[in-house]
Parts: sequence; C-alpha cells; structure tokens
Amino acid sequence: MKDLTGKTIYLKDYAPPAYLVDEVHLTFALAPEATRVKSRIRFRPNPDSASRDFFLHGEELTLISAVIDGAPVTPKITEEGLTCPAPDAPFTWEAEVEIAPARNTALEGLYMSNGMYCTQCEAEGFRKITYYPDRPDVMSVFTVRIESDLPVMLSNGNPGDSGPGFAEWHDPWPKPAYLFALVAGELVNHPGSFTTNSGKDVELNVWVRPGDEGKCAFAMESLKKSMKWDEEVYGREYDLDIFNIVAVDDFNMGAMENKGLNIFNSAAVLASPETSTDANFERIEAIIAHEYFHNWTGNRITCRDWFQLCLKEGLTVFRDAQFTADMRSEPVKRITDVIDLRGRQFREDNGPLAHPVRPESFVEINNFYTATVYEKGAEVIGMLKRLVGDEAYAKALDLYFERHDGDAATIEDWLQVFKDTTGRDLSQFKLWYSQAGTPRVAVEETWEDGTFTLTFRQSTPPTPGQPDKAPRVIPIAVGLLGPNGDEVQETTLLELTQAEQSFTFTGLSARPVPSILRGFSAPVILDRQSSNAERAFLLAHDTDPFCKWEAGRALARDVLLRMLNDGAAPDRDFLGALAATLADESLDPAFVALVLALPSEDDLAQAQVDAGRVPDPQRIHEVREAMLDAMAEALEAPLRRAYDAHQVPGPYSPDADAAAARALANTALMLLSRRDGGALAQAQYDRADNMTQQLAALSALLTAGAGDDALRAFEAQWKDDRLVMDKWFSLQAAHAAPDAAATVARLTEHPAFTMKNPNRFRAVFGAFAMNQAGFHHASGDGYRLMGDWLIRLDRLNPQTTARMCSAFQTWRRYDADRQDMIRDTLRRIISVDGLSRDTAEMIGRILDA
Ligand code: BES
Ligand code: ZN
Repeated sequence: MKDLTGKTIYLKDYAPPAYLVDEVHLTFALAPEATRVKSRIRFRPNPDSASRDFFLHGEELTLISAVIDGAPVTPKITEEGLTCPAPDAPFTWEAEVEIAPARNTALEGLYMSNGMYCTQCEAEGFRKITYYPDRPDVMSVFTVRIESDLPVMLSNGNPGDSGPGFAEWHDPWPKPAYLFALVAGELVNHPGSFTTNSGKDVELNVWVRPGDEGKCAFAMESLKKSMKWDEEVYGREYDLDIFNIVAVDDFNMGAMENKGLNIFNSAAVLASPETSTDANFERIEAIIAHEYFHNWTGNRITCRDWFQLCLKEGLTVFRDAQFTADMRSEPVKRITDVIDLRGRQFREDNGPLAHPVRPESFVEINNFYTATVYEKGAEVIGMLKRLVGDEAYAKALDLYFERHDGDAATIEDWLQVFKDTTGRDLSQFKLWYSQAGTPRVAVEETWEDGTFTLTFRQSTPPTPGQPDKAPRVIPIAVGLLGPNGDEVQETTLLELTQAEQSFTFTGLSARPVPSILRGFSAPVILDRQSSNAERAFLLAHDTDPFCKWEAGRALARDVLLRMLNDGAAPDRDFLGALAATLADESLDPAFVALVLALPSEDDLAQAQVDAGRVPDPQRIHEVREAMLDAMAEALEAPLRRAYDAHQVPGPYSPDADAAAARALANTALMLLSRRDGGALAQAQYDRADNMTQQLAALSALLTAGAGDDALRAFEAQWKDDRLVMDKWFSLQAAHAAPDAAATVARLTEHPAFTMKNPNRFRAVFGAFAMNQAGFHHASGDGYRLMGDWLIRLDRLNPQTTARMCSAFQTWRRYDADRQDMIRDTLRRIISVDGLSRDTAEMIGRILDA
C-alpha cells in the first residue's frame, strides 16, 4: 500500500521494550477543560532488551512537569511522545500533564459523555491520558486516585480509601495500559453479588444514568450466568472483590473489558421488554459474557503486541459463542454466526481490505478490529478444537492458563500448548493465521461397486500482497444419507491437507447423498454441483441442522440467481420445500424462520460476481422482492397458521423459546403484510406490549407501504428514549426506495440527529450502507451523501469514520459508471486536508486494490 498516511508498523520489527514498569500511581484532578493527571511510575531496565532509549508515548498532552528520581528533566517532545536521558538502573518518573476531556470528540482517552467522565484506552488511547510506554507487553500494577465533586468515582481493581472529593483504587493484577479505566459521574447502580466456586464473595454493579436503573436487571443476570459458566466450562474464577459495569451513551464500540471496570455502550447493556427487541437481549447477554470472559483471555493473559489481537479476540468470540450456544439453541447460534461470517468476513476477504487473521502490518491498529480478526479468528479456534477433539482442547486450555498467566503472549505460544498437549505438528495449520482469503473447496463424487468417493480440490484466490497461497489443513465434517433419508454414515471428520485429495466410503448398499461441511466445520466456500431435488432432499432429511439449513439456502440462492440471470419465474419446487418446512412441527420455530429468510441482496451481488457477472443492485432488489411476493402468495395459508400458532401468551420474556416463536411469527407477518395492505401488522402494532412485536409490526407496515402513521406514532411515543429512537432512524435509512438517499438526507435534518453520538450516526449511515438498492442507486446520490458525512464526521471521530468506510469495500464489483462515482467519492475523501490517519489508511487501502 502507498503510505500517504503515516508510519507503517510491521510484526517482523517487534522488539521488546527498553524499560519495564513495576508500579504506576496516577492522580486525576478532574475538570472538563483542564484535567490534571499526575503520574509516578517505577521503571527498571529490561534485561531482555539491549536498548536503553527511554521513550514514552504521549499525544495531545500538555506537559506541566517531568522529574526523574526527584530531579526535573526537560524531555524532547514530538507528536508521538517524548524521549529523555534515563538511568541504566531502576528509577522513578514523575510527571504532570493537562488534558481537556470536554473537547475530546474522538471518544478515545479520557472524554465526557452527558456530564460523565469516562475512558477508552484500547488499543492506543492511554497515551492521550499521560506519558507512558503504551504497549501491551508493558504490564504493571496500578494505583489510582480520583479527585472531583462527583458522587461516583471508579477505576480498576479493588476500592481503597475514599471521602468527600476523592476516591482511591488499587488493582493488584499487573496489566497493560490499554486495560486502564476511569469513570466519574452522577451514576446510580443496580447491585448484585456472586460467590465464586472457591467461596469468595464478589460485589457486582451495573452503573447507569439516573432514570435507567430499571433497565439493568437483564445485564446483571447475564453477568452472573457468565461468571458461573466460565467456572464450569473453563475452570476460570473471578479474581477481584468487585466487578463494575458502566453504561455510556457515547461509545465507539460495543463494550470494553477494562480490568474490573467494564465500560459498555449503553445500547449493549440497557434492556427492558418495552424498549429492547429479542435480538437486543441476545446481544446484551453475549457481549456481557464476551467482556467478562476477557478477564482471563485478554487480561490475565494479554497480547504481546497488537498483531496478536486474535489471541484474545478470536478466542473470546469463540468462548462467547459457546456460551450463547449453551444458554440458547446451539444450531440457531451456529447458523446465525455463519450468516454473519459470510456477510461480513467473506465480504472482507473478497475485497481490498482482505488481511490475515494475524496481520503483518498496519498504520492504525484501530482499523484491524475486523470481522477477520474476530470472527475468522474464532473459526480458526473452532477448527483447532475439532481437529484435536474436545478433551485435548480442554487440556490445552488448562495448560495455556497455567503456563501463560501473567504473560503478554503470542499466537506461537497459543499453538505451542496444543502441540505440547497433543504432539500434533501444527505448522500447516498455522497458515490459517498468516494467509488471507477464503479457501474455495470444490468437491466431486463418484460411485462404484458400493464405494463412494469424495474428491476435494482447494484453492484460495489472491489477496492484497498475497498472490499465491499454500494448501491449508481443512477439517471437513461429512455424513451420508441413504436414498430413503436415513443416515448411513454418521458425522466423520475428513482432514484435507493437500491441494487435491480423495476420501472413500465403502460397504454402502446404495449411492448415498453426502452432507458436507457439517456444522460449517471450516470457514471455506464449498463448491459442489448439486441438483435442486437433492437440496430439497437434504433440507427435508439431513440430521445436521447446519447442513439442513444450508441446503435450503443453496436452493434459494440458485432459484434467485436463475430469476436474476435467466428471467426465470419463482420456482414451484422451492416454494414446496418451504411449505414442507413450515408444516414440520418438530422443527425449532427459530430454525424455520431462518429457512424462510432469503439470502441478502449483498449475498446475491457476491454470488453474481462469483459467477462472473456484474451485479445490478436495483435488479437484485426487485428480483428478491418478487420472490418474497411469490412466497407470500404461495404460502399464505401456512404462514397465517404459523403466525397464529406462534403468538406467545402472557407477559414478555426474552428467553430463547419465546424469542424463537416470535421470530417465526414475525417472519410470517413480514410476508403476510405483502398481501393484506398491512392490516395484520397494524393490529399487531396497536396491541404490542414489547419492542420485538412493535418494531416487527412497524417494519412490516413500511414494507406494505402503510407505515407513515405508525412512524409518526412511534416517534411521538419514543422521542425521549435515545436507544429506541436509534431504531426509528435505522428502520427508515434501511428502507429500500428509489429516493432512499433523500430520505437519509432528511433524517440528518431531524432535530434528534447528531454526529457526536456514534450510535445515532450508525443508526442512519450504517443502516443506509446496508441498503443495497438505496446506497448503490444509479444516480450516485448515495455515494455522495455518504462521502459528505464521512468527511464531516472525520473531524470529530476518526475511529467511527474509518469503520464506516468499509461501506465502499465492494466497489470493484459494480459497473464502470458506479465505479467512477465511487472512485470520485473516495478521492474526494482522501484529499481532505488534515484527514485522520484512520480514515486515510482505510480509503487508501480501498482505492489501491
Ligand atoms: N476489546 C474490545 C473492544 C475494543 C474494540 C476496544 C476496538 C478498542 C478497539 C471488546 O472486547 C470487543 O471485542 N467488543 C466488541 C463486542 C464483542 C461481543 C465482539 C465490540 O465492541 O463490538
Ligand atoms: Zn473482545
């Protein structure tokens, strides 16, 4: 990549720090425009480093004073930090700096949100708080004193002294600076407690703004479930006297695992039946678990450097997925994770932003908190577990925790524990960490004399900087079904290690139908010629829920592509297969809802590209709509029955069974509303007593073209609830219509629209970017609008701007006119004076492809 933007950092250049830190004392005198931060830090030379260059990171700080061992020093200061002559022996550094949290709109470092002070330090935000070696392999014990008149003052670890105007905290566990946190404000708590396996009582709190205390109970229950689960499944206990969670309205991400003081986007904590959907509840449960699980996978064992990010994120996503599977439905969790992986990670792997699970270089690390590092990183762990087996996985994890507790570790360390546990050579497996791109696996089958042979061929397309790829280890779980639908070969794991490889099954009395990639055993694209009759057969009979669903999905994709490419009519056999699925009362309603959901417009665009065609977003939208209309017509009676049969009586509960019933009823409602002018949806809207039912009804009304009154009513009802209003913005920005860009422009003029709140900005522009027909409208209005707003947002909040640039990552898919318009927009963004390094790197990578 052209380096317009700043220094590129390389994994191969890693060098240990010159100095280590034993102790940190911080004192914060809080004031919105002029917070003073005093630091007292015990440094000692690192025996593992030859360098004695003393460098401390620091950005946007005003240095007031600096002292080494009691003697004032005058450091040399640059935009990135300071250097200063330092002893070749242990010494004490004392400094005072001034910062202005009220002016911090980037939401990184110490900032303010609704009068509350809070921090976000991962990845490299601590350097905006004070001068420090802000790298994860420098771990230290922190003691913090906060001075202000605010009633609640929190930091990491256990509480120490406090009194009027001050509070002290001490965290006994050595940690990198990115896990530091401070919160101060007028907050109220929802308390709880947990007794660990070894009998230690832990105080729990969820801290929120006054008025939100009624929306904390679900998060608290989720936390307790997570603590219990980590003890039972991974043998991991909590290790402090207190665990605090704080909800913040202005937050770039979902949540952050600061030691003992997790900070959450309020959208990822606050829940009530009236204001939160089933999907919100499920997400909150998962994200509470995720951040809690980081206490071991991330905090006790952290990353040596940011290239190792998947060490903590991939593993913690894998753990939170296991947790959700245990709390809810394992098949439904797996299928929704695969949909998400294909929609976000395969999309990334297919374009200019493709990078390995462990990247080898970056300009701005914030740009690498990606679907590849997270979701593919979790898939890699899932493959490893399948390859070594559950028992060996458990042993390897025990060894990992034992060997690396207190370490800043690497992927090499991680793989070594598996090697030492199993004796397995993992050198080929390691390619999953270094090679970008989604492997394509073509499969052919032969049948002869009772022997069934599967021949696999793997290849991975070139990705930026990686033209050629070596064959990887690909675990492929396979089962076989007999002609009557019975399973004749239960799930067995094939290990594909070569570019081309065959596996045989003998002693079969009839040609079987293979069920391949059960449970989605590897993050690959399986390319198999198959008939729709066979797909319908697998949809009806496969015992593996993932492959069962996948058969229906392949069928839908094929039917839609034939409609798109050959002008075919909606396929009767497909509609018949859906009717059969709807009629099968043994199925989980959430599963049925997933079978009824068609591939997204973005999936279809990618499928067309894979078939060598140029996608037309408008036509894709129309064809998909035609299919939905056909489904509504052909399935009207069974949909109506499903709708009636899955009404959940009694008060709302967010549990998996009730949510599953609502998922199917609301899927049916969406389809039925295409035919009744929205009557059923209006009735549901009028009687809804929970947000899942209300929002689904509103969405169905919009689809039926009858949503105007409900939109106004919804706004009037919820204008004072910021999280619900995000849904109101989002629904409209996502609604496909030829004038979608105009709708979005109008939404930005709404008095409640603000660029300063990332949730609100994403509600509008994140939703619009997913609105394929609207965003990619042939006029180019969508591109220009997005460009205008990204330029505006970049001045305030580079991180959120850079993340939203990924809306453009698929631009090479489209026709020359669209490509020209997008290129113009990208060039317009990258030529902005003073553009952030974050956004410049993203646009640079997208353009360079
Ligand atoms: N450590 C991250 C939060 C983070 C991300 C900090 C990027 C700084 C930069 C946290 O553990 C995380 O991964 N959060 C996710 C949610 C999670 C359920 C995958 C998030 O915020 O989206
Ligand atoms: Zn995480």
